[in-house]
Amino acid sequence: MSDTVMHLGSGKVRELYALDDERLLLVASDRISTFDVVLPTEIPDKGRVLTGLSAFWFAQTGALVPNHLLALREDGRSTECRRLEMLPIECVVRGYLAGSGWKDYLATGEVCGHRLPIGLLESQQLPEPIFTPATKAQTGHDENIDRAAGAALVGEGRYDEVERLSLELYRSVSERAAKLGIILADTKLEFGVDAEGRLVLADEAFTPDSSRFWPADEFRPGGPQPSFDKQFVRDYCESLGWDKTYPGPELPADVVDGTRTRYIDAFERLTGTEFGRYLADPGVALG
Ligand SMILES: Nc1ncnc2c1ncn2[C@@H]1O[C@H](COP(=O)(O)OP(=O)(O)OP(=O)(O)O)[C@@H](O)[C@H]1O
Ligand SMILES: [Mg+2]
Repeated sequence: MSDTVMHLGSGKVRELYALDDERLLLVASDRISTFDVVLPTEIPDKGRVLTGLSAFWFAQTGALVPNHLLALREDGRSTECRRLEMLPIECVVRGYLAGSGWKDYLATGEVCGHRLPIGLLESQQLPEPIFTPATKAQTGHDENIDRAAGAALVGEGRYDEVERLSLELYRSVSERAAKLGIILADTKLEFGVDAEGRLVLADEAFTPDSSRFWPADEFRPGGPQPSFDKQFVRDYCESLGWDKTYPGPELPADVVDGTRTRYIDAFERLTGTEFGRYLADPGVALG
């Protein structure tokens, strides 16, 4: 990388560089985080899977919502993006009751202010997808918030706009995934605002890090589901009785391999492209 490229910061997974005033370089590492802790062991090629899948979905949904993707680089893990003012909320859409949504429902019968029917099971499909935003915690865990708290952070008009766009994106991608035998249980999106004040979809989109993907043929509501996402690593970490604070546990080789296989499986099933073809020519993800 040339010296003129300025390193802006490191996220848990990505390195951010400024190419100029308008453009960022986002480089996805092979780091994996569970329960907001970056683990000491990397998953080979994970950053390429995230980058390729995001690029694929940006290309697929570009007509629905403008996004930040400008160019995908040869290494398969770096993208040139429009530099945006990010909104301070995570835009989560849930079609099924899992994770913190399930926990909130058990405790209150609601998720982010949406009152839900009584007697729902863990992982059950909701009557309709709901928008369930969260704060972007600088440290610690993101917190689920309701409409009033979200609107206080981004403004009423923006809130309504990101809710509508997030639900549209979820519906579009979950319909495509369903045709491939995959349930998109929930997903997290991030939006930014460009210099003209327009909303732009940013960050990563519909990857195993930002979404729960379940194989439809194994779907059994009433408990957690097998998945193509991080659940395999989460389960391993929880089996150790780890307290979910730094430092996280090292992953043994079989957990690394099993995780890598799940990420690549998700890439291949969702894009219909062999991962080896993506490595040889990342441009194939753009269709
Ligand atoms: N187009 C963009 N313009 C500006 N910032 C962006 C853009 N796309 C993504 N980002 C930001 O880049 C960072 C990506 O890094 P990463 O995903 O590793 O972070 P993270 O672990 O999710 O944690 P955090 O979001 O709290 O930094 C995020 O902070 C995200 O909001
Ligand atoms: Mg992130």
